[in-house]
Amino acid sequence: METKLEVTEILKRYSQDIDHEITRALETVDPESLRQASEHLIKAGGKKLRPSLAVLSALAVGGQVQCALKTGAAVELIHTFSLIHDDIMDQDDKRRGKPSVHILWGEPMAILAGDTLFSEAYATVMSSEEDGVSPDKILPALQTLVDSCVKICEGQALDMGFAGRLDVTEEEYLLMIYKKTAALIAAATKAGAILGGGTPEQVEALSEYGRLIGMAFQIQDDYLDVASSEEELGKPVGSDIVEGKMTLLVVHALANADEPDRERLLTILKEEGDENVSEAVEIMEKYGSIQYTWKLAQEDVKQAKQLLDILDESPAKEALLQIADFVLERNH
Ligand code: IPE
Ligand code: IPE
Ligand code: MG
Ligand code: MG
Ligand code: MG
Repeated sequence: METKLEVTEILKRYSQDIDHEITRALETVDPESLRQASEHLIKAGGKKLRPSLAVLSALAVGGQVQCALKTGAAVELIHTFSLIHDDIMDQDDKRRGKPSVHILWGEPMAILAGDTLFSEAYATVMSSEEDGVSPDKILPALQTLVDSCVKICEGQALDMGFAGRLDVTEEEYLLMIYKKTAALIAAATKAGAILGGGTPEQVEALSEYGRLIGMAFQIQDDYLDVASSEEELGKPVGSDIVEGKMTLLVVHALANADEPDRERLLTILKEEGDENVSEAVEIMEKYGSIQYTWKLAQEDVKQAKQLLDILDESPAKEALLQIADFVLERNH
């Protein structure tokens, strides 16, 4: 409990400054309806995990907060763009405790709002020169974010392609979540380390730390989808089952269940409604799928923390260690 509270405080620390950068990036968007649609989820407020990771990574290699604030804001803009488009693709009507952007403004405007955030993200990174960051750091940071965006799209395409396929392997699943989720978290820590003036070894370690906690983060997200409540999450639960998504839980259960349970799980995944979600969870529990995925995620977190041995002791390093644990302790 205590750890959770502390991490919540850590994530709040840079939230105002990040929001300030984001508001600046969006204030000139016109017409008004597009600006409102673009600002909707930002105002709803997320956990701010990714921008905090960018700033903490810069600090952990000896840089200043200021050098990574704009890039942190850019990572949050990219993340929010991906959520707006993700809710259209997953047909989810709630996000961050509020109606999804496409529910309020319709899909065409939601697509444009996502595109606006995406584009403003790059402009925001480039404006880092205002904060005294030199172009020889801005350029590789920008390249890092660009690469991760292509990966998000690849990962989301893989995710959609898996739905309805019965033979998705664990390896395929892991590549998919690396691309759709871990790549952006790795980009946040890597870009932060670059901007903070880290050595190539430190940049590499923080990038890998981000990838590993990102993998665990998505595994936990899949778990929360079947184990949490809409109230806690601020987004619908059971949505992956309703959409027939291949999460690690499902992949493991399908690979290990006997024929009747396998057939039953497949039937539930093909159904439209969410009335049999708890039965699907029972099947996952019966075959140890929840335990299995939990272990895998824990292993990622452990490895991620070990990678930070390369850094000198500092409050920022301590915060990164705590965030690694928080990824699996969180319930939202
Ligand atoms: C949700 O990310 C999307 C995933 C990659 C699982 P977060 O859980 O970080 O969402 P917010 O930003 O706190 O709303
Ligand atoms: C998140 O996957 C991936 C991206 C947004 C890129 P999910 O579809 O599981 O995310 P949630 O559960 O809707 O937040
Ligand atoms: Mg989704
Ligand atoms: Mg999705
Ligand atoms: Mg999810």
